[in-house]
Amino acid sequence: MIRPMFCRLSFIACFVSLTIVSVCDNISASQENSSAMAKFLPKTMRAVGFYKYLPISDPSSLLDLEVALPTMQNNDVLVEVKATAVNPIDTKLRAPKPTIETTPRILGFDGAGVVVAKGDASKIFKIGDEVFFTGDFRRNGSNAQYVALDEVLVGLKPKKLSFEQAAAMPLTGVTAYESLYDRLLLSKKDAGKSLLIINSAGGVGSVASQLAKNLGLNVIGTASRKETQEFSLAHGADIVLNHTKDLIPQLEANGYGNGVDYILVNYDPYPYWDTMMQVIKPQGKICLIVDSSGLVDLKPLKTKSLTITSEMMLTRIIYNTDDKYRHHEILQEISKMLENGQLKTTLTKVMSPINAANMKEAHRLLEEQHMIGKIVVTKFEEKEKI
Ligand SMILES: *[C@@H]1O[C@H](CO)[C@@H](O)[C@H](O)[C@H]1NC(C)=O
Ligand SMILES: *[C@@H]1O[C@H](CO)[C@@H](O)[C@H](O)[C@H]1NC(C)=O
Ligand SMILES: *[C@@H]1O[C@H](CO)[C@@H](O)[C@H](O)[C@H]1NC(C)=O
Repeated sequence: MIRPMFCRLSFIACFVSLTIVSVCDNISASQENSSAMAKFLPKTMRAVGFYKYLPISDPSSLLDLEVALPTMQNNDVLVEVKATAVNPIDTKLRAPKPTIETTPRILGFDGAGVVVAKGDASKIFKIGDEVFFTGDFRRNGSNAQYVALDEVLVGLKPKKLSFEQAAAMPLTGVTAYESLYDRLLLSKKDAGKSLLIINSAGGVGSVASQLAKNLGLNVIGTASRKETQEFSLAHGADIVLNHTKDLIPQLEANGYGNGVDYILVNYDPYPYWDTMMQVIKPQGKICLIVDSSGLVDLKPLKTKSLTITSEMMLTRIIYNTDDKYRHHEILQEISKMLENGQLKTTLTKVMSPINAANMKEAHRLLEEQHMIGKIVVTKFEEKEKI
């Protein structure tokens, strides 16, 4: 199993030559061994990155680069990237500012691929495992042929999904899962209660609505266009309100005149604050995943004994919390749900190959905020054969 996989990788990386063929023969004799493996990886890889933070219309906003393979840490696995998804975090990190990097910055915090090397302390995966992963935005990401990741950021790819379908799911999946299970503390005991998801057609919203539906909650989504409303209804929402209009009369018209038990806000909470304080039931909980653009009044929390909680996907990783292994467990859980059909991928657009032109187009589509579902960019162009 491992040998043919590795041989194929060598071919892709180095291209066919008699030396490589004989290298493959040697490897088959030795055991699976990450340092031996690493020895036969290419020295450089293709990547899409940048030095300057420029508007996406600028030709230099994202560049085709040839760079060294990422440096691995002890707990890392090195993943050969098959598909990478694009998220608002990418466009936010690339947004124009005067800083100039001395070394290129490579984005991409969501993807799928194959484990090709392991750090000494990494224990979870084997060479050759097909995986999907979130990223760590302090490090270089998956807009490259290889990405080095702490193994807790990685889960086994659901077998029945393609690399592209799988690549669309980790970042939004973990965020939605943590929001519902770890922050709002929802479980099957909440069946029959109501959850309002503000902006339910986006990446996180369309996973959260599926997860909540599976727990038996009544899911009230919001979206403003016919297409996004339909997408949300197809991904777990029972009803979808129009968030460009006042939500209160729409909730009343749909039988929620007494309010909702939970709210998940996948958008700037500031413009919704007063509405939320009105429609949340006493002892209700609200989870925020986007920064508030303004200061909000906490006074209304008191009489209703409300809970406000926040979700950021990398908290466990950045603060190295005692339960950081849970990040991996959640990915495994999402993988199972995708495998057994409890969750469906929110992939709607695939672009190929992974290069600066396509990554710029993907960033542009995201910045326009007209995307429905997720964009995945897949496969590097074969190197020209000499
Ligand atoms: C792995 O391979 C390297 C280089 O071939 C060798 O030095 C090392 O002893 C091997 N380690 C194991 C655990 O087999
Ligand atoms: C990202 O990759 C570039 C190219 O190899 C490298 O120079 C840079 O140091 C890396 N950045 C980080 C944060 O590892
Ligand atoms: C949502 O409301 C806005 C503002 O009234 C309106 O322009 C839009 O057509 C509505 N969307 C749908 C799907 O009805």
